[in-house]
Amino acid sequence: MVKLGVNIDHVATVREARKERNPDPVAAALVSELAGAHGITVHLREDLRHIQERDVRLLRQTVTTHLNLEMAPTAAMVQFALELQPDMVTLVPERRQELTTEGGLDVAGHERELGPIVQNLRAQRILVSLFIDPEARQVRSAQKVGAELVELHTGNFARAFHYEQGDEAWQAERSRLIDAAALGHRLGLRVNAGHGLDYQNVSYVSSIPHMEELNIGHSIISRAILHGMDRAVRDMLDQIRLGETEGKK
Ligand code: PXP
Repeated sequence: MVKLGVNIDHVATVREARKERNPDPVAAALVSELAGAHGITVHLREDLRHIQERDVRLLRQTVTTHLNLEMAPTAAMVQFALELQPDMVTLVPERRQELTTEGGLDVAGHERELGPIVQNLRAQRILVSLFIDPEARQVRSAQKVGAELVELHTGNFARAFHYEQGDEAWQAERSRLIDAAALGHRLGLRVNAGHGLDYQNVSYVSSIPHMEELNIGHSIISRAILHGMDRAVRDMLDQIRLGETEGKK
């Protein structure tokens, strides 16, 4: 079965909106695991807009499946990962102004800088994945710098699936994913994918040969909010009525 890594960043986004304790992404990770998730993914951004160091440290202690730490390839983040020892690090590009990770890592343009970082992490037995656009030159460079895995960026596929007329555009994007996955597999890389995957488009990616794990966040958190809304409102009404019937002062 293609595995599911649940990205819990947006649970932290809601918490950070109020700088409160809740909702706690650590609790969300445990519930995801109980529901059958194969792994937990968090992106510790340098601007700390959602996940905090505290979250990752607690997740390291509590996650029993597989902890995938997404991070920028900076010296400070590498130091943090070496100390934390996640099961896997996914190197991603990061720009402060972006709403989310907008493109893949340009491995082909930065082989010399990325090689030592990959080796450094691997030497500590941390699996290294590179988040790349589904392009042959990026896949080849990922293998060249010594990564064990690539995560193919499915953002363009997802956008075409929902926002472009007709089937041609998303099918072309899916073909790029198929070709990149096949090349990665041929070169001995393990292949993951993620970004923008949701309940409508995910099966078109899980059906691609050689896919090992999909990292999905926004659509799962969105659905969790809507599914949970009914129960949350009923629970609050119960508490209001309790106050009335018990006459609490
Ligand atoms: N994979 C990577 C590398 C990401 O940066 C993200 C977004 O944080 C995801 C997967 C998950 O994307 P989404 O939230 O759109 O499911």
